[in-house]
Amino acid sequence: MAASSCMSSLGLLLAAHCALLLALAGAAHGHPHLAGSALSSSFYDESCPGAYDIVRRVIQEARVSDPRIPASLTRLHFHDCFVNGCDGSLLLDDDLPMIQSEKHVPANNNSTRGFPVVDDIKCALENACPGIVSCADILALAAEISVELAGGPGWRVLLGRRDGTTTNIESANNLPSFTDPLDKLQEKFRNVNLDDTDLVALQGAHTFGKVQCQFTQQNCTAGQAQGALENLDQVTPKVFDNKYYGNLLQGRAQLPSDQVMLSDPAAPTTTAPIVHWFASNQRDFFRNFAVSMIKMGNISPLMGRDGEIRTNCRRVNNKGY
Ligand code: HEM
Ligand SMILES: *[C@@H]1O[C@H](CO)[C@@H](O)[C@H](O)[C@H]1NC(C)=O
Ligand SMILES: *[C@@H]1O[C@H](CO)[C@@H](O)[C@H](O)[C@H]1NC(C)=O
Ligand SMILES: *[C@@H]1O[C@H](CO)[C@@H](O)[C@H](O)[C@H]1NC(C)=O
Repeated sequence: MAASSCMSSLGLLLAAHCALLLALAGAAHGHPHLAGSALSSSFYDESCPGAYDIVRRVIQEARVSDPRIPASLTRLHFHDCFVNGCDGSLLLDDDLPMIQSEKHVPANNNSTRGFPVVDDIKCALENACPGIVSCADILALAAEISVELAGGPGWRVLLGRRDGTTTNIESANNLPSFTDPLDKLQEKFRNVNLDDTDLVALQGAHTFGKVQCQFTQQNCTAGQAQGALENLDQVTPKVFDNKYYGNLLQGRAQLPSDQVMLSDPAAPTTTAPIVHWFASNQRDFFRNFAVSMIKMGNISPLMGRDGEIRTNCRRVNNKGY
């Protein structure tokens, strides 16, 4: 079935259908993990064995018409995990007064993208295994698949996150900014248990995707619109590789927040040696990137009986008011 059917008027019917199956499925496989649980790469092996392949297929389909989508999806996992942990809070739309969407804070507004593809993934998963796969896990799977499809490393994605029922605007307003100096970036990463190696490795995701010229080191050139798009990696813009670090060494990173890892007065004793290391060794970059993505994916996940498995990634299941 075409994933896009979820976007049509069939949606309501399907949602009702899914809700019924969800109630039935609760008894069969919805067992919350009990005490002592941790995320696990085998979490859906019995309840939704096709999950990985389904997510992969939808991303493959989407990137035919939108080659940027792997980069955009990878960024969503980052912006989800840094705010309230990896709980899918980023995906919630405005539903005032209870839910104020994180999508309009400066780091996200007119910038984060790929939400309709997340909807398509969710729809395909609800058709295959209703009520089983969380929106937060969709973002974790989509990030890994996206990186791998672009030529980057693969890793075993840890799963079992549940979806939150709230957003956190204050925290979303505090997402790392392209204007943050190095010590501020380090502090924001340390706050979620990520160290300098994680910071340098994860910024390596700027090896693919686009940036609006208004955010770049040189700002826009005369006559260019503020939102004009440029490649984050001007050498190999679509490939996930270590060329990004080579760009940094030449002072040609797009974002000020990229370049500070080399240019900040404190960089020589902190982040700069890691930049040099990854610039000269792609294998080590790949290994560290995978490890850091798993660490980032472990930021305060909801598990067990906490949270819920959203039926629609844009809305909580029961508003409770
Ligand atoms: C260290 C702090 C970071 C800052 C300040 C930052 C900032 C930015 C900015 C300003 C953009 C361009 C947005 C636009 O022009 O609309 C961007 C794009 C992007 N970021 Fe980051 N970023 C950071 C870390 C990360 C991390 C940790 C990841 C993933 C692991 C990531 C993945 C991406 C990707 C893939 C894009 C391109 C998205 C697309 O083309 O749609 N970034 N980032
Ligand atoms: C978000 O960006 C749009 C332009 O794309 C702008 O019209 C709108 O005012 C912005 N919203 C906020 C809250 O900044
Ligand atoms: C880029 O230049 C424009 C126009 O001069 C300015 O309004 C904007 O604040 C600049 N952006 C940054 C990030 O410096
Ligand atoms: C929003 O971003 C797009 C590119 O992503 C750009 O074309 C457009 O001009 C931007 N709009 C505003 C109001 O900045």
